[in-house]
Amino acid sequence: MTAQIINGKEIAEKKRVEIAEEVIRLKNLGVTPGLAVILVGNNHASRTYVRNKEKACHELGMNSILIEMQEEVSEEELLAKIAELNETPDIHGILVQLPLPKHIDEKKVIESISPSKDVDGFHPINIGRMMTGQNAFLPCTPYGIMVLLEETGISIPGKHVVVVGRSNIVGKPVGQLFLNQDATVTYCHSKTKDLPLHTNQADILVAAVGIPNFIKAEHVKDGAVIIDVGINRNEAGKLCGDVAFDEVAKKAGYITPVPKGVGPMTITMLMYNTVKSAAESLN
Ligand code: GUN
Repeated sequence: MTAQIINGKEIAEKKRVEIAEEVIRLKNLGVTPGLAVILVGNNHASRTYVRNKEKACHELGMNSILIEMQEEVSEEELLAKIAELNETPDIHGILVQLPLPKHIDEKKVIESISPSKDVDGFHPINIGRMMTGQNAFLPCTPYGIMVLLEETGISIPGKHVVVVGRSNIVGKPVGQLFLNQDATVTYCHSKTKDLPLHTNQADILVAAVGIPNFIKAEHVKDGAVIIDVGINRNEAGKLCGDVAFDEVAKKAGYITPVPKGVGPMTITMLMYNTVKSAAESLN
């Protein structure tokens, strides 16, 4: 079998057209969705991500403000800025780019963001709501994965989903979203014994480990759906995922490439969440 490629770029563009239409509707009601992004320090990758988020906002007709803070900023000053943004009516989403410098308590910062503006979906209130199937901001990468599958017409109820990786940002929540849609979910991680035994059971395999080309053909069942969340650089400096694409694509039914797979969906769902927050501010 040769896998069908799930084109994340194309699906993201389709979703962005829908989001732009919702932005127009909200503007006609007098509300322009606004995102505040806080960037602390000078991490190169973070700066690129933040720039892409601002660009996406502007392309969709939304407002965005970037608040840059020095690496040495105190936790108190950062928390004061978040408190101010929590009370700013034309800001509907607040995103603090992670990672933060070591002297700042990341948990405390996340918990200081109003759950109603937590468009990253990282606040424990939103995580709890997600777990109990209530209305919540869903974390952007996991949410983007669910949209990719929906748009590709892949049915989820009853499927065996194996998630490799258990980060708070991707692995844990994506498993929960699959469970919410009646999948059977297995989590694997660095302490899992006999990884291929588990991954070979997967109808849908999500690789979110951050190790280049970690998932090989031997890990994959014929015809499986492979979702590659990795964004790594190989020895040659080339962008690659967690999945050894060429060998796995020969065996899988569907596969997301890197780049242009999961990546474009993350920012798209951030825009979606910000617009959802703006719409909910009218209630
Ligand atoms: N750093 C890497 N990914 C993310 C993300 O999705 N949100 C935030 N806030 N920081 C990140």
